[in-house]
Amino acid sequence: MLYKAIVRPAVFRISAKDPEFAHHLIMEKLAFASKFQSLLKIIEATSAYKSPALERDVFGVHFPNPVGLAGGFDKNGLALPALAALDFGFIEAGTVTRYRQPGNDRPRIFRFSDVDALINRMGFPNDGADAIHERLLKLPAAGVPVGWSIGKSKITPPAEAVEDYRYSLRKLYDFAAFFTVNVSSPNTPGLRTLQDKEPLDQLLQAMVQEATALAQQRGNVIPKPILVKIAPDLTEEQIQDVIEVCLARNVGGIIATNTTLARDGLRHSTEQTGGLSGRPLLTRSLEVVNYLSRQLDGKIPIIGVGGIFSPDDAKRMFDAGASLIQIYTSFIYEGPGIIKQINKKLLY
Ligand SMILES: Cc1cc2nc3c(=O)[nH]c(=O)nc-3n(C[C@H](O)[C@H](O)[C@H](O)COP(=O)(O)O)c2cc1C
Repeated sequence: MLYKAIVRPAVFRISAKDPEFAHHLIMEKLAFASKFQSLLKIIEATSAYKSPALERDVFGVHFPNPVGLAGGFDKNGLALPALAALDFGFIEAGTVTRYRQPGNDRPRIFRFSDVDALINRMGFPNDGADAIHERLLKLPAAGVPVGWSIGKSKITPPAEAVEDYRYSLRKLYDFAAFFTVNVSSPNTPGLRTLQDKEPLDQLLQAMVQEATALAQQRGNVIPKPILVKIAPDLTEEQIQDVIEVCLARNVGGIIATNTTLARDGLRHSTEQTGGLSGRPLLTRSLEVVNYLSRQLDGKIPIIGVGGIFSPDDAKRMFDAGASLIQIYTSFIYEGPGIIKQINKKLLY
C-alpha cells in the first residue's frame, strides 16, 4: 500500500528519464542495510512471514519459502542479506561473467507502466568473477539459499565460452547453494545459440564435471546443483532438445523463463530492443512451464518465472508444474509486499 501510494510514484518520477537510476538508488539502500544486523532485524520484523508449511526441499537444497528473486537484480551480490530479510525464500545473484564488463550504453531499461512491463538490454554489467569472489569473502552470508547465475563475457568468442563459464563457477563455488547456466539473455550477442543441442551439451557436461571435481576436492560426494535458464522464445522442438541434454547431463533444475523478444501485450509499439519482462510474459512462461512439466514428468524440478504479479499468478505457475517461483518485474511495480502476499496465499 505504502509502496504503491508513496514510494513508487516518487522513485518512478525521479528516474523517469533513466529507470536504472531507481534501481541503483534502491540497491544502494539495500546494500547499506546489509551491513547492519540492527537494520536487517527491522526489515525482517516488518516483512517476514514464516511457516514450516512454506518450506521446500528441491534439488537437494532447503528453502524457507518457494518465492525467490530472479537473476539480474543483485548482479554483484551487494545486498543479499537485505533481500533475504525482505523474505525472499532464495536469491539468484548475478548474472556474473568471467571478466568485468560495463554492459550496454544507458538508458538500457525502459518502463511500460500501463501494462506493468519492462524492456531491458543491460548486457550483463558486473564486476567480474574475481572481484565478486574477493568481496564475498568479506560479506556475511545471506541467510537463505543463494544461486549464482553465470553468463558469457561479451569479449569471449563462442568457441571459448565453456572455459569462460567454468572460470566463474570455480570462483564462486564456495558461495553458492546452486548455479544457473544463463544461456537465455537476449542482450549478449550469440548467447542464445548456446541453447542449441550440441553447444548446450558441451557446456552443461563441463559445468557438471567441474562442480563434481570441486565437490570432491572439498570432501563432498554431492556437487552443488547446476541449473539452466531458458528463453521463452524457444519452439517445442528446441525445448525438447534442452530436456534431452538436461536429462543426460544430470542438470539439477530448469528455470523458465528469461525475458522475451516478442512484444505481445504492449499497448504501444516500441523501437526499443531488448528483453520484455513483466505482466505480458505470464501467458508464455506458463505455457513453457506447462510443456516442460508434461515432458519431464517430475524428473527435473522447474523454477517458474515470468510475469508473476499476484498470488493467483503464482498459484497458476505452481499448478503448471513449478516447484519454486521467482519474481523480478513485480518486485519493482508492486513492491516487496508481493512476497508476503504470495506466501500467505500459498498457506490457504
Ligand atoms: C532489468 C533486468 C535485468 C535482468 N538481468 C538478468 C540477468 O542478469 N540474468 C538473468 O538470468 N535474468 C535477468 N533478467 C530476467 C529476469 O531474471 C526474469 O527471468 C525475467 O525478467 C522474467 O521475470 P519477471 O517478469 O518476473 O521480471 C533481468 C530482468 C530485468 C527486468
